[in-house]
Amino acid sequence: MVRAWLAPFLHVAFAQAQYSTTPTGPNGTAPGDLNNAQSPPYYPSPWIDSSTAGWTDAVAKAQAFVRQLTLLEKVNITTGVGWEGEACVGNTGSIPRLGFPGFCTQDSPLGVRFADYVSAFPAGGTVAASWDRGEFYRRGYQMGVEQRDKGSDVLLGPVVGPLGRNPKGGRNWEGFSPDPVLSGIAVAETVKGIQDAGVIACTKHFILNEQEHFRSPGDFGDFGFVDAVSSNVDDKTLHELYLWPFADAVRAGTGSIMCSYNKANNSQVCQNSHLQNYILKGELGFQGFIMSDWDAQHSGVASTLAGLDMTMPGDSDFDSGFSFWGPNLTLSIINGTVPEWRLDDAATRIMAAYYLVGRDRHAVPVNFNSWTRDTYGYQHAFAQTGYGLINQHVDVRADHYKAIRVASAKSTVLLKNNGALPLKGNEKNTAVFGQDAGDSQYGPNGCADRGCDNGTLAMGWGSGTSDFPYLVTPLDAIKNAVAGNGGIVQSVTDNYAWAQIVSLAKQASTAIVFVNADSGEGFITVDGNAGDRNNLTIWQGGETLVQNVSAYCNNTIVVIHSVGPVLIDSFSNSENVTAILWAGLPGQESGNAIADVLYGRVNPGGKLPFTFGTNASEYGPDLVYEPTNGHGSPQDNFEEGVFIDYRAFDQKNITPVYEFGFGLSYTTFSYSNLTVTKVAAGAYTPNTGLTQPAPVLGNSSTDASQYQWPANLTYVNKYIYPYLNSTDLEEASRDPEYGVDHTYPEGATDGSAQPKIAAGGGPGGNPQLWDVLFTVTATVTNNGTVAGDEVPQLYVSLGGPTDPVVALRNFERLSIGPGKTATFYADVTRRDVSNWDTVSQNWVITNYTKTVHVGSSSRKLPLSAKLSF
Ligand code: BGC
Ligand code: BGC
Repeated sequence: MVRAWLAPFLHVAFAQAQYSTTPTGPNGTAPGDLNNAQSPPYYPSPWIDSSTAGWTDAVAKAQAFVRQLTLLEKVNITTGVGWEGEACVGNTGSIPRLGFPGFCTQDSPLGVRFADYVSAFPAGGTVAASWDRGEFYRRGYQMGVEQRDKGSDVLLGPVVGPLGRNPKGGRNWEGFSPDPVLSGIAVAETVKGIQDAGVIACTKHFILNEQEHFRSPGDFGDFGFVDAVSSNVDDKTLHELYLWPFADAVRAGTGSIMCSYNKANNSQVCQNSHLQNYILKGELGFQGFIMSDWDAQHSGVASTLAGLDMTMPGDSDFDSGFSFWGPNLTLSIINGTVPEWRLDDAATRIMAAYYLVGRDRHAVPVNFNSWTRDTYGYQHAFAQTGYGLINQHVDVRADHYKAIRVASAKSTVLLKNNGALPLKGNEKNTAVFGQDAGDSQYGPNGCADRGCDNGTLAMGWGSGTSDFPYLVTPLDAIKNAVAGNGGIVQSVTDNYAWAQIVSLAKQASTAIVFVNADSGEGFITVDGNAGDRNNLTIWQGGETLVQNVSAYCNNTIVVIHSVGPVLIDSFSNSENVTAILWAGLPGQESGNAIADVLYGRVNPGGKLPFTFGTNASEYGPDLVYEPTNGHGSPQDNFEEGVFIDYRAFDQKNITPVYEFGFGLSYTTFSYSNLTVTKVAAGAYTPNTGLTQPAPVLGNSSTDASQYQWPANLTYVNKYIYPYLNSTDLEEASRDPEYGVDHTYPEGATDGSAQPKIAAGGGPGGNPQLWDVLFTVTATVTNNGTVAGDEVPQLYVSLGGPTDPVVALRNFERLSIGPGKTATFYADVTRRDVSNWDTVSQNWVITNYTKTVHVGSSSRKLPLSAKLSF
């Protein structure tokens, strides 16, 4: 049987890679000539470096483990068993001979997806607003614990791609912030937390996966077949913006990285040798394994040689029964197309991550099943076989609800306050408005993967979700706050019940209006929004709701639950709107957290992790919503370079409604006494020399008869196995073009010592990039009468014509008593003051005058000093 998938195995594989030999492409391309940008080749795929700091023990154990494996066993741990083949959202094959159960990989970046008795944490883009390293770490650790105790090996998160190039991007909220430094610090702490709990973090989606529309070939079938969108980016922007937080994740030791659905410079990312071999494994010195996004693998040999280490969920299309790997990977080794050291390296990287986080000590058997909450059911959901106990309903939440409430309150941003807040709880007549204040009529988990906007919004939709154990609504928590004090609380949660809304607004002394805006992953469309938002307006008529309530009540407080910025300028300056809060996507403790802030039990200290503008166009180029290139890849040219979010507003001198980094408190702070001290550091030296040759851990027989289906195997329908179904390799391949001569990329199979990459040398890049060149201090004074938190922020101006006006480089959340002062300390590293030089392929400190600024937001920077080198 000849299947359509076979063609991509060879053709698309190499056609997409377009092995341009010119040194242009992302290395030489300047913003502006990005259309049809090409990604240059880089081979061979770097093998694991056993001398990497932090990884030596793990690599030694991994190599010892892989040495004892057969070819089939090595293939098995690189290849998923197929969609819904086992309990987790992705599972690799096992090694029964050694009692090794195979890997369970499970969503999501804010909890455990598809399971009960789990916690729903605040989303990444919400906790980012806490600007609190301790909260980032604790959230990561607790999510790791919950995954570990459910039996999962790999947590499919955190997210730093999308970074958030455009606020309409459907999955931005899964990640942290469009600022690479805030994202970088958040991802590093999250990775450390997850992995300290004994679970492998899978930082995703690498890279430039900035929109949902056309993310994969053939997605968005309304337009017929359209190939995957190509995010075209120049090398400088790649390094200074989108790659930056991935470097931090690698430096923090992320055991895994997921390659993304999209193309980058017209090459599918999971087979893009420049991005995977040169940038990620080469320059960033990533020692863990690259896992494909679900069906983001589009070739066998090409992706193998371009550095992919694990394919998920394993089948070429969900439940096709075919795989680009599995038997095809076995075959490509025995016919010599792929050298065995490349497979050994993939297996070693997978096992090194396993030992790095201590899976050998922490593993518990998987005790849940993604595909049903029933206690008994099928072990192999798609095949409907293996009936038995599949859900033990293990409660893994411990007391995480406490930290969730704290983190959500700390992530709430006070945008406006004319003295209306904090409330005292003894208000006589409180009126609460908005569908977003109350319960969903379907319950908090009533829509699969949270794919609807009903009731209060506490997470977006798609795979980046978990089930709520409960969801405390704002209305419940407000009633609790007022109940004992003799006040009354009434509510209208139908946004269109105008008569009741007006009548209640007229009586209220305090009106609190809850509004929202949602988005998610492209496989679900909500209210016509196919993942990406269609616009930045508030949903459910919320803007009109605020206007109507505030027309009748001169003390209207607005709370926004949203995935990112929304347009609020129609009411933000209204006198009757006395306070505005952004509460993000707070997770299960939503109501408690907002009530903590509204009633002053918590003094807000969150800061915006993005900019509120007045118009979507202010943020830069729009997403690509329609094909622009016929059936070919829409060309999405990132021509704005590094100028996204506040950098775009600053560059174009646009006054935002509320700027990046902004957030008020119930007290006020002032800044004084900036000091800048130069620190002696050695000169920056490029990484030089040669790597070791590729370690050879196996020398498997090439005799096809040894890899045939075992006679005694109980076949599970559509499951992916590593076996060949013929000793005739052509027949086993089922590839009509088997044996046709293909030119493989030059050097791809060369396992000899390779030149090291100048900007590399350690996890995340050249270790000297983290040399401290300056230390900065400033005094922050709490001028009020209540204790509060302030987040002093350090920005740099690098001074060149293509540099942002200011760019965030450091911050610290400080708790300061009334009338007290605190000292803000921040290091400025070499990386912080460097630009990427496309010619030398390294970081350089330019001769432009550089300035450091300290203050309370990207636009309130009272302290500045020139840096003298
Ligand atoms: C998403 C990933 C997710 C995977 C498994 C994909 O569609 O892009 O983020 O981890 O599915 O659910
Ligand atoms: C509209 C809202 C609507 C939402 C969901 C937005 O574009 O402005 O009115 O509720 O999409 O469709």
